[in-house]
Amino acid sequence: MQQLIDPFGRPIEYVRLSVTDRCDLRCNYCMPKGFRDFEEPEQWLDFTEIERVIGAFGRLGVTRIRLTGGEPLVRHNIPELASRLAALPNIEDLSLSTNATRLDKHAQALRQAGISRINVSLDSLRPERFREITQGRLEKVLSGLMAARDAGFAPIKINMVVMAGVNDDEVEDMVEFCIEHGFTLRFIETMPMGSTGASAGRQYVNLQDVRRQLARRFELIPGVMHGGGPARYVRIAGTELRIGFITPISQHFCDTCNRVRLTADGTIYLCLGQNDKLELRPLLRAGAGDHDLEQAILAAIARKPERHEFSEKPEQVVRFMSMTGG
Ligand code: GTP
Ligand code: 5AD
Ligand code: SF4
Repeated sequence: MQQLIDPFGRPIEYVRLSVTDRCDLRCNYCMPKGFRDFEEPEQWLDFTEIERVIGAFGRLGVTRIRLTGGEPLVRHNIPELASRLAALPNIEDLSLSTNATRLDKHAQALRQAGISRINVSLDSLRPERFREITQGRLEKVLSGLMAARDAGFAPIKINMVVMAGVNDDEVEDMVEFCIEHGFTLRFIETMPMGSTGASAGRQYVNLQDVRRQLARRFELIPGVMHGGGPARYVRIAGTELRIGFITPISQHFCDTCNRVRLTADGTIYLCLGQNDKLELRPLLRAGAGDHDLEQAILAAIARKPERHEFSEKPEQVVRFMSMTGG
């Protein structure tokens, strides 16, 4: 099988596929206040176009696809898309990152369609605070999570963006919640993308401090598992709980980067923290053949940047997280 190798020798085997830039929540670190300027649906790749692009990635060596948004379940018929992608040659790992507001309705169908792993954003277990951060209802997310568990997803990972003065006092509550329900927990450092609550760095928490805080109360056993991505995991002794630390700022992981992003409008972004991109939609709509698509992807990967520069140039990336799905 062919491998996609970038200029720094990194095998690229993971595509994060954003199926819409829209979201039914408004997490203040993810989208600017009052933002409305979303892509129009005619700019989105349709399912056949997505299938062609992911098919080309698969032939070039990509094995893992993660569906992201905005909120991916805002787009209609995601189970249908998932089953079409799961059927493509070489695609072995199909996963979803979601805010879970619609999971109670869709969990079963998504599982049957071939999605095996789910990551859910959950930044607070307090309804009032949850509403302040997201403008949404905690209750919906909790029922979505339970529906996902009942549908047999494993693992289910909780993503908590730890923010100073916002939710950093809930780290230990979240540990207990995940032990109780059998979820994996990941803490994430805020990244400055676009003009959001995260951009000024005021909310930034260095996760090395969180780790030290937890180590005072729990015994942390390091190196217990590898995910598909950048999290570094520990296990809490005496429990099954795995905790992942995603530390793009305090300890970046770009030297093992294995991924690129494809946005809803068919643009490949080569790094989360850089602006380098390649637009595939014009090619697709001009009748490009499969070989042309593969050549375009190869040319894009040859331009993948070495690393992000969130610390050196925090204002550099003006698109915000909901456009590329993190
Ligand atoms: P798995 O490990 O496959 O479960 O997924 P993941 O952790 O890569 O995906 P998820 O969508 O849950 O992302 C969690 C957080 O990691 C988000 O805040 C992402 O923005 C961040 N993240 C994922 N990949 C990268 C990356 O390549 N670079 C950076 N800087 N952040 C990333
Ligand atoms: N910094 C770090 N993580 C972010 N996410 C969204 N915006 C940011 C940001 N600015 C996270 C979400 C979700 C994941 C896909 O990306 O909380 O869990
Ligand atoms: Fe890869 Fe860029 Fe993420 Fe670093 S910031 S891990 S190079 S996508």
